[in-house]
Amino acid sequence: MQQYRHDDEAERADLIDGLLAPHASVQPKHFYDVLGSRLFEAITALPEYYPTRTEAEIFAAHATAIGARCGSGGVLIDLGAGNCQKAARLFGVLRPAQYVALDISVEFLRDTLAGLQQQHPQIPMMGLGADLCAPLALPAPIRQGRRLFFYPGSSIGNFAPDAALALLQRLRAAARQGDGVLIGVDLLKDEAQLVSAYDDALGVTAAFNRNVLRNVNRAIDANFALADWRHVASFDRQGSRIQMHLQAVRDVEVHWTGGGRAFHAGERIHTEDSHKYRVEGFAALLEEAGFADPVCWTDARQWFAVFHARVPA
Ligand code: AVJ
Repeated sequence: MQQYRHDDEAERADLIDGLLAPHASVQPKHFYDVLGSRLFEAITALPEYYPTRTEAEIFAAHATAIGARCGSGGVLIDLGAGNCQKAARLFGVLRPAQYVALDISVEFLRDTLAGLQQQHPQIPMMGLGADLCAPLALPAPIRQGRRLFFYPGSSIGNFAPDAALALLQRLRAAARQGDGVLIGVDLLKDEAQLVSAYDDALGVTAAFNRNVLRNVNRAIDANFALADWRHVASFDRQGSRIQMHLQAVRDVEVHWTGGGRAFHAGERIHTEDSHKYRVEGFAALLEEAGFADPVCWTDARQWFAVFHARVPA
């Protein structure tokens, strides 16, 4: 398993900058230690959290069409692999010559890939620790041949549309003629349904959100007390995004290596945006990034969409 070159010092400086900003924030990549990745897996099993289930329905219902469109026998590059289940379900139709799994959570990926390799001994596999906010570096051991960049689960929703465009442009720059992208995108829908997907009755999303403070404590030796913070999920219609925050339940003072800050009761730390698209809007973004012929498959309720687009000849 390779690890992306991780500049711990820069990462810590970045975290502290975010915490000291007037509107404090922590980037969503800090959710995913091993526990955070497991909490996200638990989220995908919640009745309120429809995206994973709906995307799986789309893959199942349109597997043949997706396979025909993407072609088989290429290199499958999974950009936010997590537990690798979404890709594994497509192995049958895509018959990849190689499976390359990228994830921010290297330890979690190592465990899942080991299991997956046993189940599919005939597919060469490779794991890479990767931060998609950084330039995409695909190392040499990736096979030659047609490549499919797979970005399922609406992970692209974590980026604001301009940053999502920049990511698609980086993919476009890394791609060659014949390559394609297969991307899962959550669609705009009823506000109450969106909010409940990010504020479930059992409190798993709250635990997932608050877990970021454990990771921050570890990264910069801070002393956030989890009991001081509550989970808040809201929908910003203007920005077409779910926002997650942690809100101080009382006045608190937090210290970390080399500094600290006070938060008033009610003050918030922004932890995640999850952008929701219209079909036309996302197709336009793909074209703007230089991909051609976008097509999409959706579920009957139009809750979620899977897009394919290719590098033009
Ligand atoms: C992993 C980014 C797709 O935005 O729906 C789930 C993360 N956060 N519940 C999403 C998440 C809270 C998830 N993504």
